[in-house]
Amino acid sequence: MKTALVILAAGKGTRMNSDLPKVLHPIAGDPMLIHAMAAGATLEPAHTVVVAGHEAEMVTTAALAYDGEARVVVQTEQLGTAHAVAQARPALEGFDGTVLVLYGDTPFVQPETLEKMRDASVDHDVVVLGFEAADPGRYGRLVLSGDALDSIVEFKDASEQERAITLCNSGVIACDATLLFSLIDAVSNENAAGEYYLTDIVALARARGLSATVVTCDEDETLGVNSRAQLAEAEAAFQTRARAALLEDGVTLPAPNTVYLARDTVIGRDTIIEPNVVFGPGVTVESGATIRAFSHLEGCHISRGSIVGPYARLRPGAELAENVRVGNFVEIKNAQIEPGAKVNHLSYIGDAHIGAGANIGAGTITCNYDGVMKHHTHIGARAFIGSNTMLVAPVHIGDGAMTGSGSVITSDVEADALALARAPQIEKPGMARKLFEMLKAKKAKSQRGS
Ligand code: UD1
Ligand code: MG
Repeated sequence: MKTALVILAAGKGTRMNSDLPKVLHPIAGDPMLIHAMAAGATLEPAHTVVVAGHEAEMVTTAALAYDGEARVVVQTEQLGTAHAVAQARPALEGFDGTVLVLYGDTPFVQPETLEKMRDASVDHDVVVLGFEAADPGRYGRLVLSGDALDSIVEFKDASEQERAITLCNSGVIACDATLLFSLIDAVSNENAAGEYYLTDIVALARARGLSATVVTCDEDETLGVNSRAQLAEAEAAFQTRARAALLEDGVTLPAPNTVYLARDTVIGRDTIIEPNVVFGPGVTVESGATIRAFSHLEGCHISRGSIVGPYARLRPGAELAENVRVGNFVEIKNAQIEPGAKVNHLSYIGDAHIGAGANIGAGTITCNYDGVMKHHTHIGARAFIGSNTMLVAPVHIGDGAMTGSGSVITSDVEADALALARAPQIEKPGMARKLFEMLKAKKAKSQRGS
């Protein structure tokens, strides 16, 4: 079945009190708009149309960064949800499948729920996602007769009797494209808010003798974000669910509440994530790895059997092969670390390749940046880099080579060679004792004088 997504994201989100448009506020490392787009993407839609308005350029950039094929249309004035959907019409010209309308500020609708809606749209002209609200507040109310949905009444327009209904509108709607735009054409703005309500399409469809129904989901899925407090609640809800899912998938988390996950974090079975580990976007960890306490990871891949941390920082492009060790106070960026290599203490490895079984001594730094450009460091297999070596890139250390501690390596080192690049040591017998005596005498004299 052909599907198109229309994601409403034009609103300002006044209550966020922010320069950033509401839909770009992040949850689990990604703008909430991306959560909605990702849920919809599981239906493999033929078209994805984002309706932007407030700060449309920023919204466009974010939407295209996630899905380069998405279309962004601009709603210059926010005249209501039906008017917002109408803006997608030119982008869906000629499309004759089912349109699913999602909200950019409702990030947690689950793919399975969207599938249920699409399935229901086979037998019904309009399908609305509803939920039983613990506190129905200002949500639109779903008016049923039997199993059929008669209408949606907005809170502002509802009678006392209608306000007593607890089955509420999530905002997600599925409808055949041609029918949807034809119904929207008939929507007026004669209501308490003076807006073009998308919700009016239900009663309009029924008046044409068409059918409408409700698919229900858990209230958690329909959580909308309107304020920073709700953003924090949404983050907490996401984290709780994501941690539980990892435990279910066979990941060990001794202190799950201290581990922060991103929307797209992937962790294999029998991996151990110690307390206070933070995952930014784009991290995959294979089975049987250990991420020790207080590590921070983003945009990286960790293979089977590797041990990272405690206190390690892996930045985008860090690729760890099997059985790699990355120890405390080590930062790795855009670097491939081959199997069994060790970077155990106090190092910066950036724009580099480290060969299998190499050992990188404490305090080693790849000096990758000359102030203008970044340069590459290659360290061969089984190389031994002495502690506190500065590798001034671009530089190539051959397989099995060794650098002396404290060296500043500025030229390539051939395979199996030892490179020393530091001042030679000189020794002056008895000189330390003489120096101490001289200094003590000087101190005694200055104390007599004062
Ligand atoms: C809407 C529904 C209500 C439902 C509630 C669920 C209507 C008329 N009402 O009400 O039944 O219970 O959502 O949260 O649809 N938007 C635009 N352009 C516009 C107006 C809105 O893009 O012109 C976007 C907003 O940015 C937001 C979404 O559409 O993402 C919903 O708009 P909002 O104003 O929050 O609608 P509600 O009053 O909450
Ligand atoms: Mg709302």
